[in-house]
Amino acid sequence: MTHAELLARHRAVLPNWLALYYDEPIEIVRADGRRVTDAEGRTYLDFFAGILTNAIGYDIKEISDAIRAQLDTGVLHTSTLYLIRQQIELAEKIAELSGIPNAKVFFTNSGTEANETALMLATQYRRSNQVLALRNSYHGRGFGTVAITGNRGWSATSLRPFNVSHVHGGYRYRDPFRHLSDADYIAACVADLRDVIQTTTAGDIACMIAEPIQGVGGFSVPPDGLFGAFKEVLDEHGVLFISDEVQTGWGRTGEHFWGIQAHGVTPDAMTFAKGLGNGLAIGGVVARAELMDCLTANSISTFGGNPMSTAGANATLKYLLDNDLQDNAAKLGDRIIGGLRDVADGHAMVGDVRGKGLMIGVELVAPGDEPSPAAAARVAEAAKERGLLVGKGGLYGNVLRLAPPMTLTEDEAEEALGILTESIAVVDEELTR
Ligand SMILES: Cc1ncc(COP(=O)(O)O)c(C=O)c1O
Repeated sequence: MTHAELLARHRAVLPNWLALYYDEPIEIVRADGRRVTDAEGRTYLDFFAGILTNAIGYDIKEISDAIRAQLDTGVLHTSTLYLIRQQIELAEKIAELSGIPNAKVFFTNSGTEANETALMLATQYRRSNQVLALRNSYHGRGFGTVAITGNRGWSATSLRPFNVSHVHGGYRYRDPFRHLSDADYIAACVADLRDVIQTTTAGDIACMIAEPIQGVGGFSVPPDGLFGAFKEVLDEHGVLFISDEVQTGWGRTGEHFWGIQAHGVTPDAMTFAKGLGNGLAIGGVVARAELMDCLTANSISTFGGNPMSTAGANATLKYLLDNDLQDNAAKLGDRIIGGLRDVADGHAMVGDVRGKGLMIGVELVAPGDEPSPAAAARVAEAAKERGLLVGKGGLYGNVLRLAPPMTLTEDEAEEALGILTESIAVVDEELTR
């Protein structure tokens, strides 16, 4: 009864709009490596990792030791009124890794705050409140970030501090340009961008913000080079480009350290969060110094970049670089994507298998290619019954999202693939019976 009782208490005091997974939601009480154990003693292989946040996995000695060492100093918090050695060291590393020339870093507690900051910088720098975003995007739950969201399911309010125009290029599978080749698709999206600038803006746009691979939007992957092509148009107008790397950063996409690197473009700013702290609350913006320094008033985040989260983040970053987890993501990602494409060949219910590295989306459909959120929910339940936790997403909630910790082993990849193969087969039979 543990979970059922806790669920009743949850429902009584937490908001209705805080969605829980599964018909019978679980509480995770212990974890180790890539496996988590619930309050009723069941253990699962975790392929959603706290929404891509437990990037390295659970109970990692190097990270726990770094957190403990900071705890042992007696200092949990000082505030940005004082020098914070761990924060400075982390900023130095991120500035260098960013590839942005002369970069500076501002730390926040979340991806939302990171994007709010980037939008504040861009709109202030350009003295414009016009923003370009992508259809099907998600950038957070603040006022500015909800305003630029391109997904009805995550648009909790229509009030907006910006004039926002949305362009094509995010969700190719259901885009009117979907049947085009990569090159023609990019050309069509660029033409749309030009048209949107021409017809829906006053011209002096502050920035475009985009996720290199849409996360909440269902791990939708645009063709490589799309954002490079966009940037050429943006440059004609002096429009800044912000890459939201909250999900795609830290090597998760396998082939690159930042998702945007697949597009041959250096952004003016990048935002990050989730995986950096391996579970500790940390996010931030890395931007050209000129852009970062453009604010003319004080602006602080009381907890942003605090000694605990930056100690954990330094250890996380060191671990993922020392162990070349980006390479592991590339290798095992290819294996899982290939395995799932084989499964898709035998099941019309699987409309699309896409992704890069350990960021893999499986779009489930009903006959006629209609989105099937029911199939996604059933496969997620079936996988859970077999000991695998997966994520869901997409504009219609019909995409399975697979994003295990980047320390995943080959055996675990095969285990997950086996469970997913069986779960898809079982649900396909159930739904077509
Ligand atoms: C791409 C992207 N940006 C921003 C956010 C917001 O981050 P947070 O939930 O930490 O505020 C998310 C969260 O899922 C995200 O996926």
